[in-house]
Amino acid sequence: AFGFSSEGSEMPLACLTDFQAYARERLSKVTWDFIEGGADDTFTRDDNIAAFKRIRLRPRYLKNVANVDTRTTIQGEEITAPICIAPTGFHCLVWPDGEMSTARAAQAAGVGYVTSMFATCALEDIAATAPTGLKWFQLYVHPDRQLNKNLVQKVESLGFRALVITVDVPKLGNRRHDIRNQLDLKLTLLLKDLHFPKERTPMSYFQMSPINSSMSWNDLSWLQSITRLPIILKGILTKEDAELAVKHNVNGIIVSNHGGRQLDDVPASIDALAEVVAAVKGKMEVYLDGGIRTGNDVLKALALGAKCVFLGRPVLWGLAYKGEHGVEEVLNIIKNEFHTSMALTG
Ligand code: FNR
Repeated sequence: AFGFSSEGSEMPLACLTDFQAYARERLSKVTWDFIEGGADDTFTRDDNIAAFKRIRLRPRYLKNVANVDTRTTIQGEEITAPICIAPTGFHCLVWPDGEMSTARAAQAAGVGYVTSMFATCALEDIAATAPTGLKWFQLYVHPDRQLNKNLVQKVESLGFRALVITVDVPKLGNRRHDIRNQLDLKLTLLLKDLHFPKERTPMSYFQMSPINSSMSWNDLSWLQSITRLPIILKGILTKEDAELAVKHNVNGIIVSNHGGRQLDDVPASIDALAEVVAAVKGKMEVYLDGGIRTGNDVLKALALGAKCVFLGRPVLWGLAYKGEHGVEEVLNIIKNEFHTSMALTG
């Protein structure tokens, strides 16, 4: 009741950054730094957030907003709101059954979940635990074509509905905090599918990270030849690359700077969006990730031409808070905020 403190019960978390504070308390410094960190001076990581705050809304009133509907589709499939989960690796560092919890939360919220190639639960288990949830798979193209092919065919047979090819990691960015912390990711957690037949241990994160430094636009047709799944390029920031994506018949683009973890000093993703949208000329869906923390951020991205946005770090904060239920809370809070943003802007 008003005027009383609800003793004994925790204060409810009211926005995504509340989860950030909680996660920071709960996680070890090394894990926290790995999640929160960015490349070099972290200028772009911070600008991803600041850039949203430089954009102002122009509300229109008396528009009858009694029936706000947040539903949309991505690649033809319906989701309850244009807010999905970006691929992030190593969920088991944050919560015991990691990606399985994330997948169930996405399914419960009716949004899409992009599983990272650096998942720490078996893909079979992720698929089985959230059989009706919309799942995409994010691939770092590996120099060994057979490894890619096996993986792609496997995710296709497991019911993943699109392939997200991350293009902004021809080499891992400089993450100073991980160097200082002598970060040693538990590589034994990684997918068995990444083990080479001859090797008993999986390839190392840093071995994989120069993902395939020689990959170029010409390799896309090979990828297209081994799968019927739509191919989405993640990490495009310029009109030049957007035009090439159109030319190479890919099915979508995620405008992204990898949460500021790769090349520093590039534009905030929201600042790169309009350029990419203009270059694509409606020929494919354009999505965005990086710095989405509120419903207003989602609205701004949609107003500037994105079909849907993806959340990176906030999902990990939710996972650190209460596993599946924490992620569900994060998704529900931002979905509700977005509903409010739509109503209040008309
Ligand atoms: C990532 N990101 C990422 N991207 C990708 O394509 N494959 C991956 O395995 C990962 N792993 C990963 C781990 C962690 C801990 C973070 C924080 C990020 C990048 C991610 O998909 C996304 O681009 C950004 O996280 C979006 O920015 P926000 O929402 O974190 O600001």
